[in-house]
Amino acid sequence: MARLSNYLILVAFFVATTIATISATENETLSQCGKYMGAHCGKQVADKLRGSHIDTAISSDCCYKLLQTGYPCHTKYTLYVLLNRPELKHSNWTELFAKSDQIYHECDVLTSPGSIEFVAKCTENLGNECGEQVYNKLIHDGRITKPCCQELVKNGLQCHTAMVKSLIRIPEMRNANATELMKKNSLIFNHCLHV
Ligand SMILES: *[C@@H]1O[C@H](CO)[C@@H](O)[C@H](O)[C@H]1NC(C)=O
Ligand SMILES: *[C@@H]1O[C@H](CO)[C@@H](O)[C@H](O)[C@H]1NC(C)=O
Ligand SMILES: *[C@@H]1O[C@H](CO)[C@@H](O)[C@H](O)[C@H]1NC(C)=O
Repeated sequence: MARLSNYLILVAFFVATTIATISATENETLSQCGKYMGAHCGKQVADKLRGSHIDTAISSDCCYKLLQTGYPCHTKYTLYVLLNRPELKHSNWTELFAKSDQIYHECDVLTSPGSIEFVAKCTENLGNECGEQVYNKLIHDGRITKPCCQELVKNGLQCHTAMVKSLIRIPEMRNANATELMKKNSLIFNHCLHV
């Protein structure tokens, strides 16, 4: 976490990167991928891939995890599931990889912060100093000054939410719990409404 000092740089990182080409995860080993994903979310993806007749949904929590872990990890994991589930050995791999892509795509849509232009505009409006305060509050329980709170509120809840979604999705945040950060993010906005 020490590397993460600037909320805006992180959000800008999202802006400058399309999700499928994030290279930070390209060289992860499968076991690293699995560790980031966790047993709970890994099982959800495997179940969905296997496609039991009850179409299991992937929770938004696990969708963020999938995005954080990244596309290369997801593909490796799919291959692993295909090789290690006897019932899938003789299935049509072309179809299963298409399904795997579909799962990733659905999670991408579910966790989408909105257009890149929108996030960029929000980031720019909030400004560097205030953005850093918000980031420190979110991650380290730091302090937000009154002018920054006012700026945050002026920028609007939609911007505030879009920015945290962008932040959560980047690989550096892969150990963060999306649900908890989203909750904390709302608390920050509510706090700022009342200062
Ligand atoms: C990728 O991982 C392999 C094996 O761990 C390592 O030898 C190689 O240097 C890594 N490549 C990059 C670009 O990090
Ligand atoms: C696998 O599925 C693809 C796409 O549905 C199809 O074009 C292909 O013929 C199938 N392959 C086999 C071996 O059934
Ligand atoms: C995130 O935290 C919530 C409760 O705060 C928990 O229910 C959920 O399982 C956690 N998600 C992951 C992916 O660890």
